[in-house]
Amino acid sequence: MHVAILTGGGDCPGLNAVIRAVTLALLQQGDRVTGIERGFLGLIERRARPLDHAAVAGILAEGGTILGTHNKADPFHYFGAAGADVSAQVMAYAGELGLDALVAIGGDGTMSIAHRIGQLGLPVVGVPKTIDNDIAHNDRSFGFDSAVAVVAEALDRLATTARSHGRVMIAETMGRYAGWIALEGGLAGGADVILLPEQPFSVDAVAARCRANEQGGGCTLICIAEGAAAAGGSLTVQQTIADSPDPIRLGGVGHWLQQQLQPRVASEVRTTLLGHVQRGGTPTPFDRVLATRFGVAAAQLVKEGRFGRMVALQGSECTSVPIADVAGRNRLVPPDHELWRVARAVGVSMGEA
Ligand code: F6P
Repeated sequence: MHVAILTGGGDCPGLNAVIRAVTLALLQQGDRVTGIERGFLGLIERRARPLDHAAVAGILAEGGTILGTHNKADPFHYFGAAGADVSAQVMAYAGELGLDALVAIGGDGTMSIAHRIGQLGLPVVGVPKTIDNDIAHNDRSFGFDSAVAVVAEALDRLATTARSHGRVMIAETMGRYAGWIALEGGLAGGADVILLPEQPFSVDAVAARCRANEQGGGCTLICIAEGAAAAGGSLTVQQTIADSPDPIRLGGVGHWLQQQLQPRVASEVRTTLLGHVQRGGTPTPFDRVLATRFGVAAAQLVKEGRFGRMVALQGSECTSVPIADVAGRNRLVPPDHELWRVARAVGVSMGEA
């Protein structure tokens, strides 16, 4: 078989580990593998290169993606042709390459496009990618553990400086509309307050917690997700990227909270926006293993001819689900999730009034 691989949307630690695993698993069975450059843009602009043993050697622990990625390239609404549908052009290129299948590694946006490409006749298999851990029907996406490790380390570091100065320290995480990174990162870093998009917060409640810590002679560590908002308030949007399929870039709620808290507390309030530091760099061992499992599972789906499916982790089992069930959805922290109870049980404030 001749199988192409692409990585779409934002990058994420572990992408190279998936590329490597899919490639090695297929080469071992005598198949041919081609890498498409910069996600769906490579299918539009005809940019592809062979993937052999040499091409994937030494990339297991490398962050980013050797193929490059793009978060605006949608063949059904191509920014480079005033929003025109260039999918026929993409299918013609796939035909010229002689592709039997496409492995698309990406988030919900990439899955939506992959699903439509599959409907046009190019067999596709999906692999879920995102540090946000918000892909439907998938308990854990690779990259998430690496992002959580960065948040935990940042909180460890912020804690020592917060203690030294008796400050309130706010760390703002990524995660889009889901609170997974802030929840697990905040727990791992011993945050006093964790604020998630799934639970609108009360500024007064957060301030009360800071004052209580002040009275006890302590500092306060707050971990806030970029998608969190005060009750009755709205999302904090950093910028809007008009020609992007996902135009809203969140960011800045940490600084907003700092301004609200400062007049209500005695100690100095400072904010650190963790930003893309959470997305770059080498994947953790957990993510390397998960990415390798996903890559091998994707190659297996291709070999079994089980197309239109996305690899998924459910519990500890690597399985697959229809891409159609994933496209355009996301997975928030459910209200009955165990980690809410765990956080409250160890005295973390979740910002409730
Ligand atoms: O989806 C991954 C993610 O890192 C989000 O957590 C964040 O909101 C967004 O991408 C940032 O996107 P960009 O790199 O395009 O600013």
